[in-house]
Amino acid sequence: MPQRILVLIAHPAHRRSRANAALRAAAKTVEGVTLHDLYEAYPDFLIDVDHEQALLQQHDVVVFQHPVYWYSSPAILKEWQDLVLEHGFAYGRAGTALAGKALLSAVTAGGTETAYGPEGLNRHSIPEFLRPYEATARLCRMRWLPPFILHGTHLLDAPALARHAAEYRALLEGLRDAPAEVAHPPHHAHAPGGH
Ligand SMILES: Cc1cc2nc3c(=O)[nH]c(=O)nc-3n(C[C@H](O)[C@H](O)[C@H](O)COP(=O)(O)O)c2cc1C
Repeated sequence: MPQRILVLIAHPAHRRSRANAALRAAAKTVEGVTLHDLYEAYPDFLIDVDHEQALLQQHDVVVFQHPVYWYSSPAILKEWQDLVLEHGFAYGRAGTALAGKALLSAVTAGGTETAYGPEGLNRHSIPEFLRPYEATARLCRMRWLPPFILHGTHLLDAPALARHAAEYRALLEGLRDAPAEVAHPPHHAHAPGGH
C-alpha cells in the first residue's frame, strides 16, 4: 500500500516565490501526494478545523513546506497548529488521531549553511530552529523525519533549483513507496500524555 502524503504549503506570496514554487511544482508531479496551500485555502486565516482534521486522518505522512521566516514559519502554519492540533485529537490521553503518522519539515532558507553554523550569523542550525516541530511530532506520537532543507535560496540559479526540486520529488516518492513500518513504525509505550 503506498503511503498517502499530505503537503501543507505555507507561503504568503506565491507570485514572488522561486524556491517554494519549484518544490511545489515538483511535489505536484508525485502521484499519491495531496497538495494543500494554506494561504490559498484560508486567505482570511479562518481555518476549517474539521476539514483539516479529516485531511490529516486520510494521510500517512504530513509535510510542512514553507520558507523560513524569522527562524520559524509564515504565520498561517502557526495558526493551523494552534487550531487543528486539538487536545483530544492530536495529543492528550484520547488524542491519538495522528499516532504512527510521520511529519516532515521541508523548508527553504535565505541563509547559507555556513550562516547556520556554530560560527555563523545565526549560530544554530535549521534542525535546531525546527525543534518546536520536532517536539510537536513527539507530543502527537508522530515520527519526526530528517528535514529537507534548501539553504541560500537567493544564490540558487535555475539549474540548481531544478536539481533540488528533483531531490524533493525523489524524497516524496521514497516516502510514498516505503513500507508502512518504515514510514510510520508502531509507536511504543511512554507516549506523552500532555504538555
Ligand atoms: C519576512 C521574511 C523573513 C525571513 N526570515 C528568514 C530567516 O529567519 N532566515 C532565513 O534564512 N531566511 C529568511 N528569509 C528569507 C526566506 O527564507 C527566503 O527568501 C525564502 O526561503 C525563499 O523562498 P521563496 O523563493 O519560495 O520565497 C525571510 C524572508 C522574509 C520575507
